[in-house]
Amino acid sequence: MPLAQAGVELVLVDAHPGMVAHLRRRLPRVEVHQGLIEELDRELEPERRFDLVLVPSNILDRADLLGAAARRLAPGGRLAFELTNPHWLVAGGSERFRVLELDRARARIEVDYPDGTLQEGELELVWPEQVEAWLAGAGLELARMFGHPAAELAESPTFYVVATPAPPPGSGS
Ligand SMILES: C[S@@+](CC[C@H](N)C(=O)[O-])C[C@H]1O[C@@H](n2cnc3c(N)ncnc32)[C@H](O)[C@@H]1O
Repeated sequence: MPLAQAGVELVLVDAHPGMVAHLRRRLPRVEVHQGLIEELDRELEPERRFDLVLVPSNILDRADLLGAAARRLAPGGRLAFELTNPHWLVAGGSERFRVLELDRARARIEVDYPDGTLQEGELELVWPEQVEAWLAGAGLELARMFGHPAAELAESPTFYVVATPAPPPGSGS
């Protein structure tokens, strides 16, 4: 909403029909697509590219998803996304976001939602220490990485990554 209100031209994507209906209700003049980011070519012409791709909520936690988002960047574009912080999970999560099982690669979690729903799920883990190598696999390089304001790394439930397309090999930069 703040981006739309500031006059930023937006293209919105969500897999869930309920979220898509909600977005269309709140932003009737904005382009909204229903689909999985990893199958976006079915929805959006493959040549469409964006200066900024923003992905909240630990969605880009698999290489195919990261690659699908990276392919949508215009030259000089930026990909900004949020990941669950494995260090925060190791430190115990929170009362509403409980860790049931955890190893280096994944976590099984249980979440209490404000509407009273209880959901169990599995997360792929991307550790902040692995981010640069992981971005390189999608042809990206790290521009910035940070946690929540004023939180130590282990106290930040999620962290943010800003990446740019890596210069082609041999380009000298
Ligand atoms: C916590 S919600 C965030 C909703 C909203 N974008 C916001 O920031 O308030 C996460 C959303 O990601 C969507 N989602 C999860 N995996 C996805 C995927 N692979 N492709 C597209 N949307 C996905 C879900 O349908 C859900 O609406």
